Amino acid sequence: MTLYETIFTRRSVRQYDQVQLEASVLAEIRQAIDNEKQLPGQNARFEIVNADRLKGVAAPHAILAYSAGTDAALANIGYTLQGVDLHLQNSGYGSLWMGMGKPIEQSADYRILLAFGKTSAPLRAGQGDFKRKSATEISNEDNAIARVARLAPSAVNFQPWKLDFSPGKVVVRPDGGGIRKLLTGNLQKIDLGIILKCVELALEREGKAVTALTPKGGGKTFAVEVAFE
Ligand SMILES: Cc1cc2nc3c(=O)[nH]c(=O)nc-3n(C[C@H](O)[C@H](O)[C@H](O)COP(=O)(O)O)c2cc1C
Repeated sequence: MTLYETIFTRRSVRQYDQVQLEASVLAEIRQAIDNEKQLPGQNARFEIVNADRLKGVAAPHAILAYSAGTDAALANIGYTLQGVDLHLQNSGYGSLWMGMGKPIEQSADYRILLAFGKTSAPLRAGQGDFKRKSATEISNEDNAIARVARLAPSAVNFQPWKLDFSPGKVVVRPDGGGIRKLLTGNLQKIDLGIILKCVELALEREGKAVTALTPKGGGKTFAVEVAFE
């Protein structure tokens, strides 16, 4: 299965076998993290840790993400680690984005974790298994890209995003004010990066080459522009 195809089968996994993965498997996952491209100008740091360094996490391992706290840096973590989330599930492991779980040791630049490990939870059978907004609710165009990207995971499944297509370009914006913003705050910027990865994979599947990913603005005007040809 490709990473693109895994968009249709992945799920949040909350039950894990309490066994450590072999060192060679962890090394392969480390390699997958290092192979993920980051957004321009970003250099988030990722650390694989075991459960003894975590609280509130049911999995035997997690990837801790560290970065600056800017909108672009947070989106970059979503973008980079969503590639890893898809890779893990494509390799037969369970994974879970966790805003609530934490490392025991505090660090000012810690942002979020992705828990992972062996599981017997099955993959999704297909699109019918998802609870998501329709393409028209999140996009100005009902096209193949929006119909796939809408399956991206988000904190509390709020799906706080809008896609704005124009020739050769799609702008990905946050769209989740009010109580939703209060509840999930900065996680919405990570969510934006998560859907960005799915947009990129869907564009590539449609035979488009992504030529630039450009974070723009900040705060209420923050967006990432994806140029393609
Ligand atoms: C940034 C982010 C943070 C999340 N934090 C948590 C969490 O702390 N605990 C949890 O059980 N699920 C968490 N989730 C998982 C979401 O609830 C889940 O992705 C969403 O409900 C969609 O379900 P799915 O991933 O199975 O498609 C988080 C997801 C994202 C993207």
